[in-house]
Amino acid sequence: MNSNNNIDKNLLNQINKRRTFAIISHPDAGKTTLTEKLLLFGGAIQQAGAVKSRKVAKAATSDFMSIEQERGISVSSSVMKFTYQGYEINLLDTPGHKDFSEDTYRVLTAVDCAVMIIDNAKGVEPQTQKLMEVCRMRNTPIITFINKLDREGMEPLDLFEDIEDKLQIECVPLTWPIGMGKRFKGVYNLEKKELGIFSPGYTPKNNDGVIIDDLSDCRLDELISESQAEQLRESVELICGASDPFDMGLYLNGTQTPVFFGSAINNFGVKEMLDTFVKIAPQPGVRSTATRDVEPHENAFSGFTFKIQANMDPEHRDRIAFFRICSGKFTKGMKVKHHRIGKEIKISNATIFMAQERNNIEEAYPGDIIGIHNHGTIKIGDTFTTKEPLKFLGIPNFAPEHFRRVILKDPMKAKALQKGLTQLSEEGTIQVFRPLLGNMHIIGAVGVLQFDVTMARLKAEYNVNAGYETIDLSVARWVTCEDETILKDFKRKNESSLTMDSEDWLTFLTTSEYQLGFVMEEWPQIQFHKTREHN
Ligand code: G4P
Repeated sequence: MNSNNNIDKNLLNQINKRRTFAIISHPDAGKTTLTEKLLLFGGAIQQAGAVKSRKVAKAATSDFMSIEQERGISVSSSVMKFTYQGYEINLLDTPGHKDFSEDTYRVLTAVDCAVMIIDNAKGVEPQTQKLMEVCRMRNTPIITFINKLDREGMEPLDLFEDIEDKLQIECVPLTWPIGMGKRFKGVYNLEKKELGIFSPGYTPKNNDGVIIDDLSDCRLDELISESQAEQLRESVELICGASDPFDMGLYLNGTQTPVFFGSAINNFGVKEMLDTFVKIAPQPGVRSTATRDVEPHENAFSGFTFKIQANMDPEHRDRIAFFRICSGKFTKGMKVKHHRIGKEIKISNATIFMAQERNNIEEAYPGDIIGIHNHGTIKIGDTFTTKEPLKFLGIPNFAPEHFRRVILKDPMKAKALQKGLTQLSEEGTIQVFRPLLGNMHIIGAVGVLQFDVTMARLKAEYNVNAGYETIDLSVARWVTCEDETILKDFKRKNESSLTMDSEDWLTFLTTSEYQLGFVMEEWPQIQFHKTREHN
């Protein structure tokens, strides 16, 4: 590790400027719209509509993506880099559809904070709840944006109650809305004491805000009507008395969330959120490995792969490994040690992802996500360093909730099927289980669409014609036990429910949570894990 006097100043400076985050939300809350507005502010795109058209363009040109196109969802997720007020921001996009949530979960392991969007009419929705559970595993700081204030929705305090109840995170408003729907007049910035006036379709400029230090100022009545001014005074008095002030420490450990109100489609309230975001979102920090904590400003380069995406370029059937830099500086052509396979590899062509294009890069820093061409040697969780072997933690596999038995239509293709399933499981598309008894392939996924994607990719990339049938399973748990004798006994008595997953972890599969509970009670010394680290 560095001592203070040999810290590379440029490296430190680059780390200070970096902000790496993802947007979490339930589909339709406005993630695409907000992403687009953020990219517009960052100058990464020039026109509205660009983000959606990017999705469509990709879907239209790739076999695999035709699934996405048919179903009108976004299967892929990628990274968008933009700059704002001198900050280098990496926005990691996540698939909105719940069936691809495993991908989203892993993306969340690579960020330092998240923006949560809540639809003001719907409050906390199921997908948001699940994603928050994943954020909580690493105490990821969350900034909340309550969207669609131009429509009727829940009262702000009811929304807070809903968030606090369902997500166990304390809300601290940094802006406060004035009305909603047809009566939406704008937001009052509680910190800057500035009134932002809403006008549909008009993007507020820097100097549009009106400073109103004292809410009893009668200009307020002129600007937003007497009754709404009175309502704002009452609300602000109430929240100032009832809610705790914003606390940086509580926010950074994920127990308090600053809340902004706005309307993404009208680009209203977004800039307030972004201005605060760059100030309070944490820069890349310390990351845990199996052996020690790694500081971002260490000179030795290190990082991990959190996602592998196939067919980003349909012409070449390529695969890109998304790699999060955790320490040191990346330079083009750099040689790194790929510890799992024990080989040195040269990264000659790393890509950084801008909003609409991929660019080859010369250098990158902690917090940045680089894309590395993968010819089947990189899998999720792989660590590369220029120094000692490290294994970054917290890039888990999640227990699947859906299972299918694979049916091979052409028996001559057994080997190709095996290879395809192995590679697809290494990429995180699917999880594969081999029963201790018998020789069928059971595939498991968090969302059922992953099965269709798997079959489409087996056909397109491995020339394997396969299908699947349902199987009476719905729960998987990775099994460990400190006592070898008990584990042996457990294996002997439960052989028909036990499988090995693709990384040779013993996995217990069963029909229901109820059945699982029954077995857990019977075997108190056995540990049943819902997530497991990659090898
Ligand atoms: P997602 O990525 O989270 O799934 O949401 P997306 O941004 O695609 O937004 C979902 C719908 O909500 C879109 O409407 C979008 O225009 C709308 N929306 C986003 N922000 C706001 C807002 O501030 N106010 C209102 N009223 N609507 C908003 P759509 O009809 O499904 O799609 P489109 O035809 O508008 O593209």
